[in-house]
Amino acid sequence: MATYKVGYLIGSLSSASINRQLATALMRLAPPELTFEEIHFRDLPMYSPDFDKNYPASAQTFKQALADVDAVLFVTPEYNRSIPGGLKNAIDWASRPYGKNSFARKPSATIGASPGPIATAVAQQHLRSLLGYCNSPQMNSPEAYIQFKPGLIDADGRVTNEDTEKFLRDFMNELHAFIVRVLTVLPRTA
Ligand code: FNR
Repeated sequence: MATYKVGYLIGSLSSASINRQLATALMRLAPPELTFEEIHFRDLPMYSPDFDKNYPASAQTFKQALADVDAVLFVTPEYNRSIPGGLKNAIDWASRPYGKNSFARKPSATIGASPGPIATAVAQQHLRSLLGYCNSPQMNSPEAYIQFKPGLIDADGRVTNEDTEKFLRDFMNELHAFIVRVLTVLPRTA
C-alpha cells in the first residue's frame, strides 16, 4: 500500500482551538494511506526580505518540514474575513527566497471551522488565492466550511454528528485521491 505524508498547518495559535479539534477528527477519519505530521509556524519571526540571504533556524526547519511532505492540509479559522496573520506570515516565509517556493507543485487542501454560519468561507477564498499564486495544485472539491457547534467533536476527536462525520470522512478520501492524481502527473523530485 502506497502511503502519503500530509503536513498539516493549524491556522490558530489558540490553546482552545476548535480548528485543532477539527484536525484531530480529520486524522481519525482519514484512510490508512495518509499519514500526518503537524507543521508548526508559531516560532517564525515576522518575515522580511532581509532574511532571504540567511534564513534563521526556525524558518529553515519550517521549510524543511514542508519539503518532507507529499501534500499540505490547511485547517484554519477565519480572522476578520481572512486568514490569521500568523498563517499568512508562515506562507510568506514558505514562498521565499525567490525560486525556492515550498508550495510549488505541492498538492494542498483547505478546510476550517468557525462558530459562525458561513464558517470560514471567506478566509478559505483568500487562502485559495494565496496558494494559487504560490503554484500549489489545490483540491477544488469538496469545499468544507464547518460550522462548529459545542460538542460537535468530543474530547477524543470523535465527530458526534453522523452527517458531519460522513462528510469529513469523504473529504479525507477525496484528499487521498487528489494527492494520488497530482503525484501521478507531478512526481516529487526531492
Ligand atoms: C474571529 N472570529 C471570526 N469568525 C468568523 O467566522 N469570521 C471572522 O471573520 C472572525 N473574525 C475573528 C477575528 C479574531 C481576531 C478572532 C479572535 C476571532 C471567531 C472565530 O471563528 C472563533 O474565535 C474560532 O473559535 C477561532 O478558531 P480557533 O482559534 O478556535 O481554531
